[in-house]
Amino acid sequence: MTATIIDGTAIAARLRAEIADKVKQMESEHGVRPGLATVLVGENPASQSYVRMKQKACEKAGIASFGHRFPADAPQDEVETLVKELNADPQVHGILVQLPLPKHLDEEAILSAVSLHKDVDGFHPVNIGRLAMKGRDPLFIPCTPHGVMVLLEEAGVEFEGAQAVVLGRSNIVGMPAAMLLIHRNATVTVCHSRTKDLPGECRKADILVAAVGHPQMVKADWVKPGAVVIDVGSNKVDDPTDERGYRWVGDVDFEAVKEVAGAITPSPGGVGPMTIAMLLKNTLRGAELAVAGQG
Ligand code: GUN
Repeated sequence: MTATIIDGTAIAARLRAEIADKVKQMESEHGVRPGLATVLVGENPASQSYVRMKQKACEKAGIASFGHRFPADAPQDEVETLVKELNADPQVHGILVQLPLPKHLDEEAILSAVSLHKDVDGFHPVNIGRLAMKGRDPLFIPCTPHGVMVLLEEAGVEFEGAQAVVLGRSNIVGMPAAMLLIHRNATVTVCHSRTKDLPGECRKADILVAAVGHPQMVKADWVKPGAVVIDVGSNKVDDPTDERGYRWVGDVDFEAVKEVAGAITPSPGGVGPMTIAMLLKNTLRGAELAVAGQG
C-alpha cells in the first residue's frame, strides 16, 4: 500500500492565510503591524536564501520585515549591540539571528541577548530550558520542530504511548523535536552518529522524524510498515539529468519508503514550508505579547 502524502505546502499555505487575516485584524484593532527583524552574519549562500524566503513570506502575510546584515568578520559586540537595539525597538516583535554564525562568534551569548518576548526562533536558553522541563511552557516553540508536530497532528497521529524515533540531535531540530514528542506522551529514542544498529532502532518507530542532513539515508527496510515518516532533511545533490545540474532531496529515500510507510512528508514540500509558517505564527504571537503589555 502506498503512504498518504502529508502535503506541507498546502498545510503551510492554509496557516499563512490564517495568519495574514490575524495580522490585518491586529492592525485594524490595535494599530500595530507585527514586525520581524532578521540578522544575517556572513555570506553563507544557504543562509542568505533562507533569510530572503523568510522576509518574502513576512511581506506576503502583511508582517513588516527589517533585514540586518554584517560581514563575516563582524565583532561580537557589534552583533550583540544590534540585538539589544532590536529588543528596544517597538516596531520589532520578533528577532531572528540566522544560524550558523561564523565560528569566531559566541552563539550562546548572542542568542541569550535576544529578549525572551521577541525570541521567535525559540533558541534563547530559557525558552529551550522551559521546553525541556515538565509543567513549563516556552514562550515560543522553535519553528522547524513545531512544524513537524503540526504535520503529525494533521496526519491524525496518535502520540500517546507511540514509539517515536528522532534521527539527529541538533539544537535546532532533533533535540527540541524529541522534547515536544515527550510532552505529547510518546516514548522517544534519539538516534545519532554513534547509535548502534540505526536501521533496527528506526524500525521500532511508529513515528520517525529524520533530521540528520544525509541525502536519502533512511531506506525502506528501516521503516515499520504503516509508520508515519517526517523528513526534515533538505540536501542538494548533483543531478546531471536536471537542467540546473542538481536537485533537492530529503534524508529519506522517499520513492522506496512511501511504499512501506502509512504517511510520509515529501522533501521539498513537507517540513520546509512549515518552518516559515511557524515563524510567521511566532512573530504574530510576539506582537500579541506586545499588545498585551508583555513585549
Ligand atoms: N538555521 C537553520 N534553521 C534555522 C532556523 O530555524 N532559524 C535560524 N535562526 N537559523 C536556522
